[in-house]
Amino acid sequence: MPGTTAQPPSNHPAEYVLGTSADESVRLGLQHRLWSASAHQLWEKAGVRPGQTVLDIGCGPGHATLDLAQIVGPTGRVIGVDESAAFLKQLNDQAQARKFQNIDRVLGDVQELDAALPGHEDSIDVVYARWVFCFLSKPEEVVRGLSRMVKPGGRVAVQDYFNYERALTLAPRREAFTKVIQAVGASWRARGGDTDIMGKLPGMLVANGFRIDHLDVVQRIARPGSTMWYWPNSFWQSFVPRLVEMGFITAEDEKAFEQEWAAASQDPATFIQLPPVYELVATRI
Ligand SMILES: C[S@@+](CC[C@H](N)C(=O)[O-])C[C@H]1O[C@@H](n2cnc3c(N)ncnc32)[C@H](O)[C@@H]1O
Repeated sequence: MPGTTAQPPSNHPAEYVLGTSADESVRLGLQHRLWSASAHQLWEKAGVRPGQTVLDIGCGPGHATLDLAQIVGPTGRVIGVDESAAFLKQLNDQAQARKFQNIDRVLGDVQELDAALPGHEDSIDVVYARWVFCFLSKPEEVVRGLSRMVKPGGRVAVQDYFNYERALTLAPRREAFTKVIQAVGASWRARGGDTDIMGKLPGMLVANGFRIDHLDVVQRIARPGSTMWYWPNSFWQSFVPRLVEMGFITAEDEKAFEQEWAAASQDPATFIQLPPVYELVATRI
């Protein structure tokens, strides 16, 4: 049913670790814009095309969902599932303003897909999951659910992290920066997340009846003043204060970090190695 929103399960967890504030929503928009070319290339590899049913798990405010809805067109459908009612409302507002008729929004836990999407067995052509597996405590449950929802021959396309904390570095290295990155990883793990998830996902997919067709990584660097510099910049703005609130760093750590980042931002000789974004396409056998 177009635009339906199911009720979340009663044991639904609290919001994901990065939160669902207006700042986080804006950050997700910038992030999508900067990574949309990679997303489109992956969708082409996964064979997304008009008329298909695409499931966008952990869709957030739906930046990718809206692009996918344009690609599958009026004869196709995109189902966006997220645990955040606030993000799904933003997706609804955008879909209505842009007159999309082919997007369903489902409020639910992607680790309980059978409950979130009853009656969808063997019905999905392509699943897209970007930056959601790294926040989940039960990723195997998602893969099990997908093995039931995806049609035989259908695909799963994922973009997510591996080796996040070691790879994400300022060059030259700076002490307060490194401390904050370690705290980011610790905060995700404290909520059951895993910054190394893309090392484990191929095995989970194979164990649940998928074949891995494509596995690669996009490793970018950014220099001060470049557009890509604003990707990590927007993440610090929305998340470093939360790290203090959650007790993973002190206010002094935050200040030291801000000073280092401000100095790096003025230094044309420095660069940041961004978190490597791993991608895969798997086919249900
Ligand atoms: C970093 S955002 C990514 C959003 C979107 N995939 C994108 O690439 O722009 C992670 C999203 O996963 C959602 N999420 C986290 N855990 C979830 C769960 N267990 N079930 C459903 N959604 C979840 C969050 O609410 C958030 O919208």
